[in-house]
Amino acid sequence: MAGPASFLIEGYREKYGGGEAPRLVRAPGRVNLIGEHTDYSLGFVLPVALQMACYIAVGPSDDGRLRVWSENVRQSREWEVDDLGAIEPAGEWSDYVAGVARELVHAGCRVRPSNLYLWSTVPVGSGLSSSAALEVATAMALLDESSGLARLDIARLCQRAEKDFVGMPCGIMDQYISVFGKAGCAVRIDCRSLGHDTVRLPGGVSIVAVNSMVKHELGGSAYRDRVRECREAVDAISAGDPAVASLRDVSIPQLEACAASMPKLVYRRARHVVSEDARVEEFMLASVAGELKRMGELFVASHRSLQHDYEVSCPELDFLVDSAIGMDGVFGARMTGGGFGGCTVNLVRSDAVEAFRAGIARIYLERYGIDPHSYVCEPSDGAGEIH
Ligand code: GLA
Repeated sequence: MAGPASFLIEGYREKYGGGEAPRLVRAPGRVNLIGEHTDYSLGFVLPVALQMACYIAVGPSDDGRLRVWSENVRQSREWEVDDLGAIEPAGEWSDYVAGVARELVHAGCRVRPSNLYLWSTVPVGSGLSSSAALEVATAMALLDESSGLARLDIARLCQRAEKDFVGMPCGIMDQYISVFGKAGCAVRIDCRSLGHDTVRLPGGVSIVAVNSMVKHELGGSAYRDRVRECREAVDAISAGDPAVASLRDVSIPQLEACAASMPKLVYRRARHVVSEDARVEEFMLASVAGELKRMGELFVASHRSLQHDYEVSCPELDFLVDSAIGMDGVFGARMTGGGFGGCTVNLVRSDAVEAFRAGIARIYLERYGIDPHSYVCEPSDGAGEIH
């Protein structure tokens, strides 16, 4: 047995002793191609599940406790299973595990005393959704087939853990794609109906994520502000049209017509969301038609909108995007994820990938003194057991 499976089994046995082999689960991180900051306005997103994932080996414990060892931070935490329904957040990595365990209890699922050995290859703080990967992997580890929980319910439960327990008012994208990712495909999620379709990218092009290696503190509070500003825009528009329940229901002409009824800043936030929803649609069509140039232009338009209207970028991300779009073989570049650091996503002609990675690393190092990691993304399947 090769790869993560043998590593996990060995690690688990070292930590918890021999006996029965543990069950192994995996839940991927994601890179979002387009549709940024649209999910909590119930719009469209187009992420890809990554080969980088959170893995958990899980087996029964005999002392009534849920225990987790993280191989990444080399720490362990534990809780009485009977107390899980009432635990409180600790403000650290284990909250993603505890939050999911608590939500499972609240959903009426039986959480058995268990030992978890976890190891994640999704870089933390990179905007590639290491937290959703951890949440979904935890749910997969603690649930078994008899639980009867549908996959969509798992995604929603993990989102609740992040919102209600960790305290981050996120949308559904990250948990959804971690559950429903599909190898070789991007997944267009309708964040209102919670349905999805898959789309294959044209041949000869690769998705490269470049990690700025920075994460500005502002991220969490700005995210809350943006959620509130979108709500404010909806309130202003729905005063004249009660059918508008979220920015998903608004067209650009309708937004323009209401511009005077909201502060300029709120108008700009809404303009990003409404125009970004349209870009997702156009990107899908361009992808199906193999129009790489147009796909790249939409990437850049998305970035500019996030940079100027939504204001969730940062100088390092702007520098990476501006540098990338002048390089050979690059069709387009944009920030991906929540922003304020983390990664850019780049559409690069496959035969130019290695030169691009070396080139971008060199100029970023020159400018910021930081060596940026980069990842060639392989669209992968969503969460499941591994053998
Ligand atoms: C974070 C959130 C997602 C989404 C993105 C921005 O990753 O968890 O729900 O809002 O930011 O698109």
